Amino acid sequence: MKKLALLTLILVSNLAIAQPIKLSKDNIREVIAAMTLEEKATLVTGASRYGNGNAPIVGQSSVLVQGAAGTSYAFDRLGIPAFVMADGPAGLRISPTRNDQTNTFYCTGFPVATVMASSWNTTLVEQVGKAVGQEVKEYGVDILLAPAINLHRSLLCGRNFEYYSEDPVVTGKIAAAMINGVESNNVGTSLKHFAFNNQETNRNNVNAIISPRAARELYLKGFEIAVKESQPWTIMSSYNRINGSHTSESRDLITTILRNEWGFEGMVMTDWNGGKDASAMMKAGNDLLMPGNPAQSQAIINVVKAGTLDESYLDACVYRVLEIVTKSLRFNGTSYSNKPDLNAHAQVARNAATEGMILLKNDNDALPLAKAKLALFGVGSYDFIAGGTGSGDVNKAYVVSPVEGLANNGFTINEKLKNAYTKDLEAQKAKNQASGKRYQLLGGGFRPSERIVAKNEISAAARNSSAAIITISRQAGEGADRKAIEGDFYLTASEKALINDVTAAFKAKGKKSIVVLNIGGPVETFSWKEVPDAILLAWQCGQEGGNAISDILCGAISPSGKLTSTFPIDIMDIGASANFPNNYIASREARTEPLKDVDYVTYAEDIFVGYRFFDKFEKSVSYPFGYGLSYTTFKYSNAKVSKEGFKYMVTVDVKNVGKAAGKEVVKAYVSAPESITMNKPVKELKAFAKTNTLQPGQSQTITMQFDSYDIASYDEDRVAWVTDSGDYKLLIAASSDDIQCQLTFRVPAEITYPTHKVLLQQ
Ligand code: BGC
Repeated sequence: MKKLALLTLILVSNLAIAQPIKLSKDNIREVIAAMTLEEKATLVTGASRYGNGNAPIVGQSSVLVQGAAGTSYAFDRLGIPAFVMADGPAGLRISPTRNDQTNTFYCTGFPVATVMASSWNTTLVEQVGKAVGQEVKEYGVDILLAPAINLHRSLLCGRNFEYYSEDPVVTGKIAAAMINGVESNNVGTSLKHFAFNNQETNRNNVNAIISPRAARELYLKGFEIAVKESQPWTIMSSYNRINGSHTSESRDLITTILRNEWGFEGMVMTDWNGGKDASAMMKAGNDLLMPGNPAQSQAIINVVKAGTLDESYLDACVYRVLEIVTKSLRFNGTSYSNKPDLNAHAQVARNAATEGMILLKNDNDALPLAKAKLALFGVGSYDFIAGGTGSGDVNKAYVVSPVEGLANNGFTINEKLKNAYTKDLEAQKAKNQASGKRYQLLGGGFRPSERIVAKNEISAAARNSSAAIITISRQAGEGADRKAIEGDFYLTASEKALINDVTAAFKAKGKKSIVVLNIGGPVETFSWKEVPDAILLAWQCGQEGGNAISDILCGAISPSGKLTSTFPIDIMDIGASANFPNNYIASREARTEPLKDVDYVTYAEDIFVGYRFFDKFEKSVSYPFGYGLSYTTFKYSNAKVSKEGFKYMVTVDVKNVGKAAGKEVVKAYVSAPESITMNKPVKELKAFAKTNTLQPGQSQTITMQFDSYDIASYDEDRVAWVTDSGDYKLLIAASSDDIQCQLTFRVPAEITYPTHKVLLQQ
């Protein structure tokens, strides 16, 4: 008996000193088996808030990489290091300085997402992705919390600048290119915000009420394309609700559609403090709750112990978190330099900016400009807005303003005007600092107001300069939507007066005036666009903005960007405007009844978003989807469509028939046959491609492709995607209202693709 007791003691003590299992790529299940419930419940909540001594402010995580948005938990016992997540779409967002160091940690401020999409150039977007991903890796970050691909349902969504388009095909293809570029550095992305996060007003709770058809054909389609074409490491669920449930708690969305139907293999995390019920989020298949807090871990422990959450759900989440751990830099012992190639990336940012800019108007070849003396009006000419505010704002080392960019590129600047603007800006900044009002917008800095220019100053400038540039700027960002008011969607009376007065004074001297729009999303243009000679939509095109603008203005590069969202004549022309908080101002009073467009928003326009709406209801627009001028012209010819199995191949020859070198974006729209059961859009974009730079006289054969599934509509009654039989029109177009060639093809027999019956209204 004594001997047995001794043996037991020896065995037990041996077990106690036996090395616990350490995580490797092929023992994840064994590691999970060795984890306690507490460890599992901790791993699926992020460590950003209270764990590991992090500061409790989003974006201020001080562990591992300062200024990152968060980290996961580390468990030394099991060989599990933490991984680091940082924003965001226009470049990496970390703190540029650190308390203990003199080195700086600036990142490149690339053009905002809408500019990237406006290039319609997936190769270029992939190059940008590669450069961003290099910064992610070299600064020791594992996952870039981008790209963000919510659809531009209303142009007033405050975060549209972080998103790509009103169309899901452009959205999905551009996102896939960005993800592939970033992830080629062996770091991850987080495709966000999944899904229906189309407004910032009450973003944590607003219930998006939407038909399964609109959900599938529009709001989920971009995610579906991106997942299938790039398989991102992670996806971030959104804050809002969808037909009653928080997206992070929707098993329909995260498991049935995302994983089972589309084959997503990665990890899903919540948006920061998204969702309500930790157990429901685990059950839904949402693997990591960010930024995480101990109460969530405790809630998970409680429900597992109470038997209301089967531990197998939790284990599935832990598995997917650990898979990400095994890909991470610290797990793999990958060293990083803290010295990405910022000079090379500045050039990438400049190229991307020039390619995403859109020439909206160019009467009598007002542009390009001869390198003479320019008079720059508008505060944005001197204080350029590189991007939007909030988590998508990058801590960049500098922003090149138009005045600097034009001077760098050999233009002479009207110094008198420059001095007047600079003095005014400095006075405003000093006043602002003195009043302690450092932040006017969430995450943003001081924004100067427009300077009133006296008429005699304008006429003096018209006498002394050879052309005028008038920059109109806007900024929006996370946490608030834009408003249909002057100073936001509408130009202010003083901005309009500036455009009128400057153009009149310069015209009187036989000189041109060019408006540069430094904006993140459409503004009203219809009422004033006839006034100036040219309008360049420069967007918020990143830290190299001024240099890129000068590349276009001087004609070194022909503009080749095209709109990825329509510029309407007026705000109420947009289908979604009837159900959007166009001018909502939050009140502190508790609501007794749910408030329309704030507590819930009905997507009553259904599948008719963007050009689909304007086409269907034959409404005129200010500038259509796909629009954009060039310094040259292109001729399309020899369009053909052929079929191989379920694939359609479209080819067309594009010839530069103008006098300057340039690139053209070619779009393929499909118009489905009439259906008695489903209301079909007039046409839908199915593929696009961009030419190389074509010299005058040069041609290129463009190839585009799509397949039968891509031209299906979602039939709610049959719970299936259905490609109707019949004759389809194929429209090869320069923009949605500029069809260059029309072909037809026939689908001989109906094809159906069954899905699950999900996302129904509750
Ligand atoms: C934003 C996300 C962002 C996260 C982390 C949230 O408020 O909605 O887009 O990635 O914060 O900063």
